[in-house]
Amino acid sequence: MDSRVEKRLGLKELADKVVSAEQAAALFNDGDVVGMSGFTRAGDAKVVPMALVERAKNENFKIDIYTGASLGPEVDKYLAEAGVIRKRGPFIADSGIRNQINSGNVLYVDAHLSHNAELVRQGIIGPINYLILEATAITEDGLIIPTTSVGNSPVFAEYAENIIVELNISHPESLIGIHDIYVPAPQGQREPIPMTDAVKRIGEIGIKVDPAKIKAIVISEEPDAPSLIVPPDEETQTMANLLLDFFRSEIAAGRLTNKLMPLQSGVGSVANAVLDGFADSEFEDLIVASEVLQDAVFNLIDAGKVSFAAATSITISEELQKKVYGNLEKYADKLVLRPQEISNHPEVIRRLGLISINTALELDIYGNVNSTHVSGTKMMNGIGGSGDFARNARLGIFVTKSYAKGGAISSIVPMVSHVDHTEHDVDVIVTEQGIADLRGLAPKERAVLIIENCVHPDFKEQMWDYYNRAVEATGNAQTPHILEEALSWHVNLAKNKTMKKEVTKA
Ligand code: COA
Repeated sequence: MDSRVEKRLGLKELADKVVSAEQAAALFNDGDVVGMSGFTRAGDAKVVPMALVERAKNENFKIDIYTGASLGPEVDKYLAEAGVIRKRGPFIADSGIRNQINSGNVLYVDAHLSHNAELVRQGIIGPINYLILEATAITEDGLIIPTTSVGNSPVFAEYAENIIVELNISHPESLIGIHDIYVPAPQGQREPIPMTDAVKRIGEIGIKVDPAKIKAIVISEEPDAPSLIVPPDEETQTMANLLLDFFRSEIAAGRLTNKLMPLQSGVGSVANAVLDGFADSEFEDLIVASEVLQDAVFNLIDAGKVSFAAATSITISEELQKKVYGNLEKYADKLVLRPQEISNHPEVIRRLGLISINTALELDIYGNVNSTHVSGTKMMNGIGGSGDFARNARLGIFVTKSYAKGGAISSIVPMVSHVDHTEHDVDVIVTEQGIADLRGLAPKERAVLIIENCVHPDFKEQMWDYYNRAVEATGNAQTPHILEEALSWHVNLAKNKTMKKEVTKA
């Protein structure tokens, strides 16, 4: 056996389970429900899925795949395009599987990321025939050490009938000790989660499994697919500045200190760019208690702004991968990776008083947010953890540029075409135009603030026209709308490729 493998395979009785990816892929049956490790392209199995892609060239079979969140191209592009995936949950981000979902070839169950573990315990997801779990090592006492994410792997490992381990020797051994695996008992027998501080460790360094369930170990040297975020620009810097000023006013009002509260920042380029804006600020000793650690968090650790970061995955660009994984020892005492049901748990988020910053696809004049569905019909990525955080955070902040697709689309519309976060979960909205603090405001107060501060100038007159006529038409009702017109901006976009229209005079 390769000495690098021998070093990482502590439980020697498993040595005879080492097989090729093809042998492991042959174990699956048509119709299997498969759990996979991986969260936002990090810590996912890679070589067994690619062997399944090969197998699909000569054989028709379909499986259901549940993960932590989105995976890299091996599953969410190649396996999806090979027609192997029947059903997928709970989050995707690759255009390959997005196209398969939106053309009806893959069923997609978009779910709050904290919910999946409970669904597994209740048997709604399952029985799970196989779990494919990427590991850094298996310890002598049989703990499986995950790699760059934890996701749903602990609950999958507990409930899966069979486990295939992808032992990935390209991940640094210094990942050992970074994970904090705490698995709640079933509901009804559960104690409070003892997380009273984001920096506190409450669990084990690895996942306990019954070694008898491990049917195959496949050796891998494939790195995680790097993240594809685009760098900050002038507009995201403006949004970051608006947010920093908002925090300053919260400090002046005595509601926050210079340390703020633990920060959660969502997936995607905009949230990453906004977090990056903290680098030149006076805020210090910040704690990140998030779901995904993107590039900005490591830049802020380097800048001495963030003193500790907890999440369930590390999803970084190629440049940052070299820097972080080449020097993991430098970050090790400032990092922890937890199961997603802990990082995203309502009990923990509420107790710690998180400030959550997520990106909206579109939002409406009353503060309802659509994070998932383009024009109400086509799936973008999924709700991810944004609902877990927005509802339970101390401050639920949504950021978005005020326009999309070169200005043809207003990200602020009269009525969202799909609702992921209701007005009740949305405290603050930030666009490059301005900020709207919606806390304590009634719907019409919200509308005035959102239109005045956040809507792009190209759409402002059109929006005031809609709102003023809605107030008049409803006799100044609680939440004024003209129902025949509320989605007309989306209809106009579908017909004329723009939301801009001639303003109808009242
Ligand atoms: N209508 C149609 N398309 C829109 C749009 C709108 N109102 N607003 C944005 N888009 C498009 C952009 O044009 C872009 O398209 P492209 O990929 O073809 O260039 C794409 O959506 C992404 O938008 P972008 O502005 O680059 O933002 P992002 O990378 O920050 O992603 C979300 C934004 C909403 C897609 C992303 O944050 C997401 O999936 N959120 C839901 C999950 C979540 O919030 N999880 C957080 C918990 S960790």
